[in-house]
Amino acid sequence: MEIQSPDIAELEEKYVLDVLRNKMSGPNKWYYNEQFEKEFAEYHNRKYGLLTPNCTSALWLVLDALGIKNSDEVIVPELTWIATAVGASKLGATIKFADINPKTLCIDTKSIERLITPKTKAIIAVGVYGNMPEMDLLENLCHNYNMTLVEDAAESIGSTYYGKKSGSFGIASCFSFHRTKTLTMGEGGMLLLDDNKLYKRCKFLRDLGRDEQFMYWNREITPKFMVPALTAALGYAQFQRLEELLNKKRQIYEWYIKELHGMSNISLNPIQKNHTNGYWSTILILDKQNTINSSILIQEAIKKEVPIRPFFYPLSSLPAFNQSWFYKKRNPIAYKITKRGVCLPSSLTLKYEDIHVICDVIKDIL
Ligand SMILES: Cc1ncc(COP(=O)(O)O)c(C=O)c1O
Repeated sequence: MEIQSPDIAELEEKYVLDVLRNKMSGPNKWYYNEQFEKEFAEYHNRKYGLLTPNCTSALWLVLDALGIKNSDEVIVPELTWIATAVGASKLGATIKFADINPKTLCIDTKSIERLITPKTKAIIAVGVYGNMPEMDLLENLCHNYNMTLVEDAAESIGSTYYGKKSGSFGIASCFSFHRTKTLTMGEGGMLLLDDNKLYKRCKFLRDLGRDEQFMYWNREITPKFMVPALTAALGYAQFQRLEELLNKKRQIYEWYIKELHGMSNISLNPIQKNHTNGYWSTILILDKQNTINSSILIQEAIKKEVPIRPFFYPLSSLPAFNQSWFYKKRNPIAYKITKRGVCLPSSLTLKYEDIHVICDVIKDIL
């Protein structure tokens, strides 16, 4: 059993084969890239889309285009994958870690306020495990302090906040189409934007700083974050099936709810009024009265061949940042919840019988 595996159908094979047979070169060589960028942006009510090799590079690209540099500070939540902080850090900015709101598991607006200094340039808000941060409060905060809001929607495709889709907040949103995500390209990502100048700058930075008109005339030294047509075709086919994939994710979550019904010492993904969750991953949080923590639950489940994974560690506690001495007391929610939270198997290929077996194992251990 895999913790997160994709659902690939005939349409994906058809589009990938179409590239291999007809679109490796010639006038249609970017057909799937361009269609995917255009339609994915429209779906999120954004003006522009740019495919990238992954979400990590999409974040890097937009922060570079925004001019983030070494005298700046960027605020990120403690509970996220390190990729959220990589671009800003590699551009030289100082990363500040905000605590999470226990109701959403996402960045806590109040915790952000005490981190803001005149050097703070941006906040990266993450829809962790498909939950949504308080986007309206974050937008107000950014407006009041002249900061830029960037959305890391790697895990929140299909989630909404007061009816607005994740991926349509802030100046830019970044998606992941990694092999483990709801919509997959194996490796892939997308940057969505509304501002034409910023879009052009990102496009320029994405491909070696080329001049638009003069061939082989590079105006700046930039990286290359281009995406091959083959994987773009895979992503575009998955996008045609997005509602089906999201329905399956929701179904998996509902099966867990049904099977774990009546257990009073646990909770699953927190549900907020006026939010919907795309349920990329069903999560389980052990209440305080449990005698076991998440590591024991994981170890015992793995012995029974159920691949349960831990929550992310607080970013400030990772050797890469090594700042728990400073943040542990300041960000108590994130530091405590990681010891009680796990991600349950959420592969798109799971059947009801699989969830039944997984839940029996969990009940046995608890
Ligand atoms: C919250 C978050 N941000 C960013 C990323 C990075 O995505 P990618 O692997 O596509 O670079 C991930 C991927 O797991 C993620 O979960």
